[in-house]
Amino acid sequence: EKGGYDYFMLKEIAEQPKAVADTLLGRVDASGSLTLDEVRIGAQELRETDKVVVVACGTAFHAGLIAKYAIEHWTRLPCEVELASEFRYRDPILDPRTLVIAISQSGETMDTLMALRHAREQGSKVLAICNTNGSTIPREADAVLYTHAGPEVAVASTKAFLTQLVACYLVALYLGQVRGTKWGDEIRAVVRELSRISREVERVLATMEPVRELARSLAEKDTVLFLGRHVGHPVALEGALKLKELAYMHAEGFAAGELKHGPIALIEEDLPVVVVVPSPAGRSVLHDKIVSNIQEIRARGARTIVVAEEGDEAVVPYADHLIRIPATPTLLQPLVATVPLQVFACELATARGNDVDQPRNLAKSVTVE
Ligand code: M6R
Repeated sequence: EKGGYDYFMLKEIAEQPKAVADTLLGRVDASGSLTLDEVRIGAQELRETDKVVVVACGTAFHAGLIAKYAIEHWTRLPCEVELASEFRYRDPILDPRTLVIAISQSGETMDTLMALRHAREQGSKVLAICNTNGSTIPREADAVLYTHAGPEVAVASTKAFLTQLVACYLVALYLGQVRGTKWGDEIRAVVRELSRISREVERVLATMEPVRELARSLAEKDTVLFLGRHVGHPVALEGALKLKELAYMHAEGFAAGELKHGPIALIEEDLPVVVVVPSPAGRSVLHDKIVSNIQEIRARGARTIVVAEEGDEAVVPYADHLIRIPATPTLLQPLVATVPLQVFACELATARGNDVDQPRNLAKSVTVE
């Protein structure tokens, strides 16, 4: 049932192009507009929404962090993202105009379920993004948008994450469409890019051998840091989480702009630092800033592992290891940038002799608070 792979995780990483394509299937019509019939929250209500709050845990939370960029950009609605385990304990401000999005692969995560219940008690509408048909979270939500990743068995979430991102983009674009905040053409252009992205994920997967080799060479390290900006920041957090849970290594993700506010003190000779680089200048003002960050950490001895778009030559002089990803619109970059980090963590964990499908101390779904 592992389909010839040694681990479910490897199989699930490989299934990502299909999972992404399946999650888009039937949700985009021939003209490039979105038909999210499952979102049974009326158009009028969506137009009256004045705030979006995303609640989730772990990897699903990282998807939520990325959703915030998309939702705010495409809908101009303020969006908060909160760890479900913290949410209800701080008396959050919720009312019927708040749209709450609960993201969960399993649909059984207790923290997320309790956050959902709390939101509904305050009169907010809850839209679930979930991978498991008929599970508790979608049953209790007002509406559900299923991700079509298929069953995810490995404890570490991979294909579910990519499909959560797709679902978040769809919701953000749909809200933009219903509320009329963005021109039809702009939405259609992004939808077109989304429809192509599954092939790009496939291309990334086909070029992972050097990443695996690099991972094996780092098996003896104690720490790996991850840096990113904008949507690359949650990608860095996700890369670090994968490494913690699979390789049992100290791994941390930072917003690259925060380096000089503390984390740069951690840089020492030969410390591996993975940097997720946004699209090159012209399309992203942050690009030059992150190139300076790479220079800064390299000058202090870091071993730089740079994840950058094809054609981005500015990073070449400062990259000890260069991992290429296809060029995509900035907001969609996490769909391709996360994949090498999953492969990296999986291979490093294997090299350390760990069971990547069943990491110690962890359960696939966390049904206790
Ligand atoms: O089933 P859920 O998406 O609600 O699970 C949330 C987290 O427990 C989950 O993403 C966890 O962080 C994964 N093990 C990460 O790989």
